[in-house]
Amino acid sequence: VIEFNRFGPPADVLECKERDDPVAGPGQILVRMLRMAINPADLLLVEGRYGPKLPALPCTPGAEGAGVVVACSESVDQFRPGDIVAPLASGLWRSLIACRADQVIRIPSDVSLEQAAMLKANPATAAALVREAQAAAPGLGIIQNAANSAVGKSVFVMAARARIPIVGVVRREAAADEILATSPDARIVVHDDQDPVSLQQLVRSAAPDISLGVGMDAIGGSATNALATCLAPGGRVLNYGLLSGAPCQIDPSHLIFRGITLAGFWLPTWFRKASPENVTALYSELLDLIRDGTVHTPVEATYALRSIKDAVRHAAREGRGGKILLSAG
Ligand SMILES: NC(=O)c1ccc[n+]([C@@H]2O[C@H](COP(=O)([O-])OP(=O)(O)OC[C@H]3O[C@@H](n4cnc5c(N)ncnc54)[C@H](OP(=O)(O)O)[C@@H]3O)[C@@H](O)[C@H]2O)c1
Repeated sequence: VIEFNRFGPPADVLECKERDDPVAGPGQILVRMLRMAINPADLLLVEGRYGPKLPALPCTPGAEGAGVVVACSESVDQFRPGDIVAPLASGLWRSLIACRADQVIRIPSDVSLEQAAMLKANPATAAALVREAQAAAPGLGIIQNAANSAVGKSVFVMAARARIPIVGVVRREAAADEILATSPDARIVVHDDQDPVSLQQLVRSAAPDISLGVGMDAIGGSATNALATCLAPGGRVLNYGLLSGAPCQIDPSHLIFRGITLAGFWLPTWFRKASPENVTALYSELLDLIRDGTVHTPVEATYALRSIKDAVRHAAREGRGGKILLSAG
């Protein structure tokens, strides 16, 4: 099990510990975790900078992963040992977890284990963000920053399916090429998210025909204002990430004179509001898209749980070509 007992830099405070095996209680299944993703939110959690309140310590991070069912309690008849599942629980950086049988996503046999391990949070966030954008600004386009992230790449796919024109902002040229390899129709601009006027000029020349209604902001700080500057009057910035670590900045003239609004988006809140049928439909749509390769998250490296310190150092690097996974199997 990976644990931290104090908040701080992940490579300093995370430890791999031996713990007794859990057992499946009533209504539960026991899952041997095989692959788990390291996401920015996991690192922020360890630093004590994520969520509405700090988690109790010791704490095990890990929001995305997939594993194999190894035991089922007597009351569970919908799973059997050998089934592959992605638990909806958190605290997944461990080799064995007991979880409620109605709190897992069943993974079909033709979906790769790696892609299943990266299904729960990022593709779902992309799908939900695009649904929010459609509701907030029907008929208008989207602009998103950190557009080469796992969420960002899935946003391009979901926007294309909804026929919403979209512009992506990345901070390096190579990231633009990566996106164009899978979303050739995407409009991409390379910008450092600092000067809003130069971003607006770049966006106008890359997408003169698109009126932008929603800005999806994963960064905060000056990046929030840069997106707001590109929006049509009445547009909305949806902030869903804190990659810069800085408070969202927005020029009051956008709010007062141009009617721009700034709102937050968090997948757990969206799930709480969505009906169970909508959540099931969303994952079933995502599994279809993963199966046919339309949604695909590249992996840069996989580390064993005991190499957690190297793994989190790698995950924190700029310019990665894909996700860092943990392997417990
Ligand atoms: N609100 C929610 O419910 C929710 C759910 C899931 C994810 N998220 C958020 O979505 C964002 C992306 O997550 P992910 O897992 O898809 O990311 P990822 O695949 O790990 O990629 C990280 C991305 O962030 C960029 N980046 C990192 N630090 C940056 C900075 N200071 N300024 C600008 N760009 C920066 C990287 O750019 P380079 O490639 O150039 O290094 C890369 O595009 C994160 O903020 C995450 O917390 C939010």
